[in-house]
Amino acid sequence: MPVLTRDQEIRVITELLTSAGADPKQASVTATVLTEGDLRGFASHGILRLPYILRALRRGTINGNANIRVIRETPSTALVDGDHGLGHYVASEAMRIAIGKAKKTGAGAVGVRNTNHFGIAGYYAEMAVSEGLIGVVTTTTDALVHPWGGVEPILGTNALAVGIPAEPVPVLLDMAMSMGARGKIVQALKEGKPIPEGWAVDKEGRVTTDPKSALEGALSPFGGVKGYALALVLEILAGPLVEAAAGKAVVGTLEPVEGYSTKGDFMIAIDPSAFTDSSSFKSRVTSFIREIKESRKAPGVKEILVPGEPEHRTRAQRLQQGIPISEEVWKEVEKIGRELGVNLEELLKT
Ligand SMILES: NC(=O)c1ccc[n+]([C@@H]2O[C@H](COP(=O)([O-])OP(=O)(O)OC[C@H]3O[C@@H](n4cnc5c(N)ncnc54)[C@H](O)[C@@H]3O)[C@@H](O)[C@H]2O)c1
Repeated sequence: MPVLTRDQEIRVITELLTSAGADPKQASVTATVLTEGDLRGFASHGILRLPYILRALRRGTINGNANIRVIRETPSTALVDGDHGLGHYVASEAMRIAIGKAKKTGAGAVGVRNTNHFGIAGYYAEMAVSEGLIGVVTTTTDALVHPWGGVEPILGTNALAVGIPAEPVPVLLDMAMSMGARGKIVQALKEGKPIPEGWAVDKEGRVTTDPKSALEGALSPFGGVKGYALALVLEILAGPLVEAAAGKAVVGTLEPVEGYSTKGDFMIAIDPSAFTDSSSFKSRVTSFIREIKESRKAPGVKEILVPGEPEHRTRAQRLQQGIPISEEVWKEVEKIGRELGVNLEELLKT
């Protein structure tokens, strides 16, 4: 299994994207966010997504040279048109705008339309955290999840990330609305393995552990009716509110489509100092977390973790030992390299 350093992975992705015509800065931001996905152990949102992005760049459904515009604005809000750019770049620019507004007014809420799949939502929430702010990020995807009591895929997996400053590491909730990622079901199908019960229903709405029937049916929301309810409201925030699509009209996040992707994003940055003294806020959050971590554990449990901790640990380990990339994904990357005339071996040496 190939193992890359963070710098190597960023270099490979940036070079492949620029060779396919993307602007170097937009390519480099995209490479950084994809690599963060792999560093944190979210392989389904790392370099694995590169072939899809390159296919879309080639078809022109992703614009690698986007000219992002704010098309509606108040002191604390903005609606951004992403010019169908690389979703990772567009989302990071949108969060930059939200952060600027939060620093001026206490909170900045930014909607994004005409954009593309942006990878891990947590990256953008953490951008706010690194400025001492709270970050909230959500997005939509193609319809994959059934409503509670329904059979058809109508809702997206609609990631939600919330980042909050704390010591020693920030709280970073970063999750999909489905029980399991679609990518993991595709993987189970390739490996001929069953999927866990509760992840999906077949096309008749029966719970299934067969990955093929699951892909023909729909993913189940996490947490039963409450996960469905949460996915629904997030889809409204990152859909109709920001002039993007909702439901089955959301397309282009899994594979390039005829036209452009119709997904949207919504993000908020909040300055704690608009409510309280920000350093005392951080220390109160930190002692709350300590209380949770020091609370009585269930039998057989060694440690209580807080959201973001598992990924933080994986990241620290991979920064030291490298990022394992699956053989299958690496073969595809090599193929793309050959097609684009990029010598990956050379790139990995430097
Ligand atoms: N761009 C998109 O359209 C899109 C859509 C869906 C998901 N995603 C991304 O996919 C990634 C994976 O999402 P997921 O739902 O599979 O994540 P997951 O189920 O692995 O983790 C969800 C959350 O639970 C926390 N967690 C896990 N174990 C824990 C424990 N023992 N104690 C405390 N907290 C714990 C994690 O820190 C994380 O915040 C995320 O980065 C998400 O943003 C993106």
